[in-house]
Amino acid sequence: MSKDTLTIVDNRTGKQYEIPIWKGTIRAMDLRQIKVSDDDFGLMSYDPGFTNTASCKSEITFIDGERGILLYRGYPIEQLAERSTFLETAYLVLFGELPTKAELDEWVWNITHHTMLHENIKKFIDGFHYDAHPMGILVGTVGALSTFYPDAKNIHDPASRLKQTYRLIAKMPTIAAFAYRHSIGMPYVYPDNELSYTGNFLNMLFKTTELKYKPNPVLERALDVLFILHADHEQNCSATTMRAVGSSHADPFSATAAAAAALYGPLHGGANEAVLRMLNEIGSKENVPAYIKRVKAGEMRLMGFGHRVYKNYDPRARIIKQIADEVFEVTGRNPLLDIALELERIALEDEYFISRRLYPNVDFYSGIIYQAMGFPVTMYPVLFAIPRTVGWIAQWQEMLLDPEQRIARPRQVYVGKGRRDYVPLEERS
Ligand code: CMC
Repeated sequence: MSKDTLTIVDNRTGKQYEIPIWKGTIRAMDLRQIKVSDDDFGLMSYDPGFTNTASCKSEITFIDGERGILLYRGYPIEQLAERSTFLETAYLVLFGELPTKAELDEWVWNITHHTMLHENIKKFIDGFHYDAHPMGILVGTVGALSTFYPDAKNIHDPASRLKQTYRLIAKMPTIAAFAYRHSIGMPYVYPDNELSYTGNFLNMLFKTTELKYKPNPVLERALDVLFILHADHEQNCSATTMRAVGSSHADPFSATAAAAAALYGPLHGGANEAVLRMLNEIGSKENVPAYIKRVKAGEMRLMGFGHRVYKNYDPRARIIKQIADEVFEVTGRNPLLDIALELERIALEDEYFISRRLYPNVDFYSGIIYQAMGFPVTMYPVLFAIPRTVGWIAQWQEMLLDPEQRIARPRQVYVGKGRRDYVPLEERS
């Protein structure tokens, strides 16, 4: 008769243990009873990079990496990208259900009315060097928000959490736009409440002398869809950071700064920037085979390729490829697209990439669109961080409300020196 348990025989002692299996998982703590002697600490699992460890239970995002499926709260990413808006999807990710008309109106109103930054934040941003990376400015400024909103420390108060949620989602585009304007020496543009979330973001970035900025509707919608695609992606590096920092009960602004810092790295959200630099370095279609050869020789990675979870085409990359065509109709075709398409074509036929199941990920085509829309490469990780703030907050809140969740504190396998006595300086050789 089949049972939802796992039988383990410890060959060191001959003892047998029966451990429950729940949703294809065993509890690591159930291993602790497996000991060779009474004073033995007990068996642990070793998993650097958490490649086979579920760090939490979650109801937010589902990924089937084998089949290339991504669902937010059960809704396929393709349907949301086609029919939803970023703020509606944000509501879904955060609260679990699609909003009614009244709920959506109230949500959009609240986000729209929290976009302003304290004037001192402008001065703070002014202090950054002219060529400061906007992601560095974003990380620093979001962290600084915790000093402007000390009420954010009330993490166990649902009303306070909701207020910080409005503030974070609303102010991220403003900080991002101010960071960009600072880098090009242009005056900051204040939010325009008559525009949509992405329309206002474009306004704060690109408005010059016109009295009223009118975003191009195709670019506004394309950015909105890109934001939908980036809203959450379950327990990735930055979401894990958000949960880990939040588990010490730090305020959400500090935790978001940490999550954004995790996103900054080139193996995570910094990959879209790295892709663009790579495409520029390759320079033309003819140079693609030689570049692939160097990748295969281990000289570098093909940026925008591969994923810890997806062992199939990233469904987000597929949607982004479609958006690219719509954007290029407005902006003109980005010549880097031809290099990207050629890289993809050759890589997908190559044994190295096939055997390792490396496919284009979300970052492979997004940078090409951002470039066509006029964003400098340094803004790409920032464009990832804005929508991902939604996922970080949803993950943080879920972590706080999970009665099983405790401060994140992994174990280690100590492989260093054993106990030894201090040697005075004059006796050391
Ligand atoms: N180019 C060439 N080889 C690769 C690549 C790549 N992009 N990615 C993985 N490999 C190889 C790797 O060398 C290894 O080969 P071998 O078994 O011979 O040593 C094998 O594939 C497995 O790689 P891994 O490093 O064990 O895989 P991982 O799950 O730890 O890493 C990853 C996942 C996304 C960090 C990695 O694929 C990578 O570095 N990709 C390039 C950076 C990138 O595009 N990141 C964006 C990820 S999607 C969005 C996000 O998370 O922000």
